[in-house]
This record gives sequence, C-alpha cells and structure tokens, in this order.
Amino acid sequence: MLRIDELTSEERAVHATLKPERLPQHVAIIMDGNGRWAGHRSLKRFLGHQQGAKSVQLVTETASRIGLPWLTLYAFSLENNLRRPKAEVSFLMRLLKSYLESNVQRMMDNNVRIRYIGRIHELPTEVQDKMHWAEGITAANTGTTLTLALNYGGRSEIVDAFRALAKEVQQGHISPELISEEDIHRHLYTAQMPDPDLLIRTSGEMRISNYLLWQIAYTEIFVTERLWPDFRGINLLEAIAAFQRRERRYGGIGENCGEVEEDPDRMKIAAS
Ligand code: FPP
Repeated sequence: MLRIDELTSEERAVHATLKPERLPQHVAIIMDGNGRWAGHRSLKRFLGHQQGAKSVQLVTETASRIGLPWLTLYAFSLENNLRRPKAEVSFLMRLLKSYLESNVQRMMDNNVRIRYIGRIHELPTEVQDKMHWAEGITAANTGTTLTLALNYGGRSEIVDAFRALAKEVQQGHISPELISEEDIHRHLYTAQMPDPDLLIRTSGEMRISNYLLWQIAYTEIFVTERLWPDFRGINLLEAIAAFQRRERRYGGIGENCGEVEEDPDRMKIAAS
C-alpha cells in the first residue's frame, strides 16, 4: 500500500516526477562512506556508523511509503569481518543488535519485513539470536522486505550455491549437463527475490566490492558522491528518477540505435 502522504514535501515533489509503472522492484545499496563522514568532522569512525544506522531506518521508511517491494543493504561484508580491527567489528555487531532492538517497532509501523543474506551462522550467537527475533516479529509484514547483507560476499555466495548443487549431482537428483542458470539461482541466498533493478553506491567509489555478483548482471548502477550517513529518502527517490531515465536493453538493441538491416546481400556488401 502506498503512503505518499507520509513523504516529506521535498520527497513528494520528486515522487510526483516518477512513472509509477516503471518503479524498480528491487533496489540494492552499497552503503559506503561512514568512516569518511566521521573523518570530515574529526569524529571517531564509530560515530559515522551510528549515523549510518539512522540513514538505514530513514531510507527504509521512504522505501516502504513508495511501495518498493525489495530493498537490500550491504551492511557488513565477509571482508569487513576479516580485515577490520576487532574493536570496529565488535562495535558494528553491537550496533546491529541495538538497531534491531530499537527499530523493530518502527518496522512494524511501516509494514517492513526484515531478512538477512550472508554466512549468518558465523556471526556471534547473541547477534544471531537478535536477528532471528526481529525476523520472526516482522515475518508477516507485507510491505517492503528489507534484506541486510551481513558477513556477506558475492563469491562465497556462489561457492555455497555450487556446494549445494554438487550435492544434488552426487545424490543423483540432477545431471551436470542439465544444470541451468535457474538451478544456480535457486541455490543463491536471494532465491526468493527478483534480481536488483537498481544498484546504488554512496561515496563515489566505482566498485562492486563483491556484492550480489550473480544477481547484478543487468542491474543499472547509480553512484553518488554523497556519503552514506548523509543519504536520505529523497536521495533514494532521486536515484530512482535517474534510473527511470535509463533505457534497459538486456543485451538487445534500443531505440535510436540505427535501423536493422533486413537484406542479407546488402549486409555482405557493407562488410566487404
Ligand atoms: C562503509 O563505511 C559501511 C560499512 C562498513 C557498513 C555499513 C554499516 C552501517 C550503515 C551501519 C550499521 C548498519 C546497520 C544495519 C545497523 P566505511 O567504514 O567503509 O566508510 P569509509 O570507506 O569512509 O571508511
């Protein structure tokens, strides 16, 4: 259900320019720049993450008001887990727990369902418990599905899918020659979701950073210089407006790309 009346007046103005029939079904975001946001203010990095958590809630609420079905946020990568100082990793874990505790009611108010992708079983048990608690409470909500990618890596997701498929082959459920893209898809963490239509990255880096590698084959990419703690619902709407100005081709040819040559003999002449 749309709740446009709950948007701010600035958000409503951008929303009014959107074509409702071309709203993306799935927006994925690489939330980057928390550290730089803090650094620019001579603050400690953890304050950047804290501010970033506020952006998560505000952006999710705007997504739910405009009826976006799927929002998937890169909250913590496998590489973050392995390469960041222990103190920062444990701060991020505590932040996630307190985020879930204090925002579950707002998720309920906004009809948001929360889910997770990644190697969740490797996270600390008390964090997993809180995650399952929030997932259970919000499970029956029918608005936006907010998926947090946690201890997530695109390559490890594909490894996990191949391991599961190899088991099916071993057990004789499928023969290797018949393995299709669909078989790989059904073993990904995202098997229940459509592929993202739009991938947003904040803080200006032109990288994919091991995010949803299989799923973004035909996703439109939008990079903004804005740092994640400064990203708000209106910026989500602006990214969607930019997405709607794109022409998606999925490997085909678009409008204004020259006329199709129908006569094969003339094609030979043109090529000689
Ligand atoms: C990048 O900033 C962001 C992250 C490491 C993870 C994103 C985490 C949050 C938005 C906060 C918590 C989220 C939830 C769901 C509670 P960075 O530290 O890499 O920034 P930098 O590149 O400027 O150093």
